[in-house]
Formats: sequence, C-alpha cells, structure tokens
Amino acid sequence: MSSNTEESTSIDLFSPIALGDLKLPNRIIMAPLTRNRAAMPGNVPQPMNATYYAQRAGAGLIITEASQVSPEGIGYPATPGMHSEEQVQGWLAVNDAVHAKGGRIFMQLWYCGRISHPDLLPDSQQPVSASAIRPEGDAVTYEGLKPFVEPRALHTDEMPVIVDQYRQAARCAREAGFDGVEVHSANGYLLDQFLRDGTNQRDDSYGGSLENRTRLLREVLSAVLETWNPARVGVRISPENSFNDIRDSDPPATFRFVSRALSGMGLGYLHVVEGDMMTGERGMDYRQIRDQFDGYYMANCGYDKARGQAAISGGDADMVSFGKLYLANPDLVQRFKTDADLNTPDPDTFYGGDEKGYTDYPTLA
Ligand code: PHB
Repeated sequence: MSSNTEESTSIDLFSPIALGDLKLPNRIIMAPLTRNRAAMPGNVPQPMNATYYAQRAGAGLIITEASQVSPEGIGYPATPGMHSEEQVQGWLAVNDAVHAKGGRIFMQLWYCGRISHPDLLPDSQQPVSASAIRPEGDAVTYEGLKPFVEPRALHTDEMPVIVDQYRQAARCAREAGFDGVEVHSANGYLLDQFLRDGTNQRDDSYGGSLENRTRLLREVLSAVLETWNPARVGVRISPENSFNDIRDSDPPATFRFVSRALSGMGLGYLHVVEGDMMTGERGMDYRQIRDQFDGYYMANCGYDKARGQAAISGGDADMVSFGKLYLANPDLVQRFKTDADLNTPDPDTFYGGDEKGYTDYPTLA
C-alpha cells in the first residue's frame, strides 16, 4: 500500500516487493524506452531485442518499450506491436529469454493518436485524437521528420473499437508470456490526449468533466482487466510533461482526479513521470498524486541511486524506474549495489540502428 509504516526506514531500492503473487527481488525498475529496433516490415520483435531485454533481467521489473495495440496505434517507424501472430511469436522469444535469466517483464500498451502521420498509418489514414487539434512539431516518418497533420476527432461510436484494440492486445500479451501489462496514459499519446483539456474539447461523454475525460482510460482498464489480474496491471501518467505539445489548464487537479479514479480496482502500481521531460522542471508536489492512489507508486524522471534511495526510504515512492541509466547499464542493480561507475548513454544510438548502443554496453568485469 502507498503509506509505509515503521518499516519504512529499513526499506530501500534493494528491498523486495510483490505485485500480487509476482515477487520482485528489488525496486529498481527498467523504464519503458522507445528504441525503434523491431524488424520491418511487420514491427516484429527480433532476436537482438530478446538479447537486449535478457541482459537487463536483473531489474525488479522490466517494462517494455511502448508497443502499439493495433496498426492504427503506431506513431513511429520500427516500434514493436502487440496485434499480430508474428509479434506474439517475437515477444514469446523475448519473454523466454528474460525468464530464462530469472527476470520479470510487463508490456507497455500504446496508442499514439495525433502523434502519428498518414505515412505511418494503414491506407494513409488521418491520425485520430480526442479533438481535431494539431500538435506543434514534427512526426517521425520513414522519410524523416514531417510536420504533424490535424487529427480527426474520434466519433463517440468509434470508442468501443479503440477499447477493443486494447482488449485484444492485452490478450496477445498474455499469450506472448508477459508477466503483466502497463497502460501508457502519459507523454501526450492518445489516452493522455483524452485526459487533458488542452487536447480534449469534446462535448460528448468523453469530454468536458474529469469524469468524462477519464472515461476512455477507465474503459481501457476494464477491458484489460478481463484478461489480467489487477495486481499485474500498471498505469503510467505524466502530469507536468509538455512533451508532444500536451497541455492542461490544471494538472494537479486533473491528476489527483485520475489517481483517485484509478483506485479501488486493485491495480499493481501507478507509474508517474515526475516533472517535464523536455525542460527537467518539476513544480508539483507528487505526494498529492501518491496519496490519492491505493496501490504502489513508481517514481520516474531523472532519478539516480541517491534520489531513488531517498524517495523510497522517505516514503515518497515504492519503486523507482530508470530509463537512460538502464539503457546504458544492463547490470544496473549490481552497479548500484556496489556503487560502481556507470556507463554513459549515447543519444546518437537511442532510436533505431543495430546492436551498437543497444546490446553492447559493457557489464562489470
Ligand atoms: C519517444 O519515442 O520519444 C517516446 C515514446 C514514448 C514515450 C515517450 C517518448 O512515452
């Protein structure tokens, strides 16, 4: 539960924790990281992806890179999906490799919405969103950056189609041998586009009040919970993030409501990107988010070992996820344990490419 008792002083990043019957040996989590290295065509996980994740199996939990729930959900080249038989087979190999190394792995379910481009979508269709509001900036297409286009507002009667795509992907994730799933409701993608009043100006039952703006997320969770035990399901939010030109008139109020709305279902954890990924600024007190949620709180964004330890021992978080540090340090838990030097991440190889900057970061001797 979110409030630690007398034990809190003895709990740290290396303490075990459990998501239902899934025991995590530590609270050092690998954050979801887009790496654009799925095999094309088909957006299928391939052997080098299995190697990459298996190298990081020492994490308390691995959360995969965001993976589109349907061909319509894609927003970038070479991101893996969770909607075809080939993808299920590809992920099975990833999960077998992670489990063989004693690891645990959740799939992050993703729908990009307006952060896409006709070039990436079936039949060159227009991207969809809560409302027809074009984001500032550029989409990443097969031919490089192209300005975002105006998205089409989803019709009310299309909402069950979106929900069903999450339902199917959650089933596929189970078939593919994952230990659980994380619903990506952060960083300006489709679910976040519905949560925020800057991108959601609908006048149907999916817009207006916070009750309505959270409806799609709640429906998606209900669909996912048809397949998964709630303890095996997490949700990611990013209240202050401005990434992908997302805005909200009152993030603290919006996300206190979201956190409360996510309580009472027995969900495993709430994964919170604290602050603005773009500027590094962090103005909100995240206790108000943690206090509204009745499951574990996973903190993310700019943490190192010292800050992570302080957050856990101080009762501000139950787990901490590390992105760039995990990308560059496959044996991050061991390095934290021994206070070893850390490899430096190379931004030039974050997105796309081959094994270089992917599976060749050295472990301790
Ligand atoms: C990215 O591709 O840069 C990206 C993808 C998913 C996120 C954040 C960033 O949640």
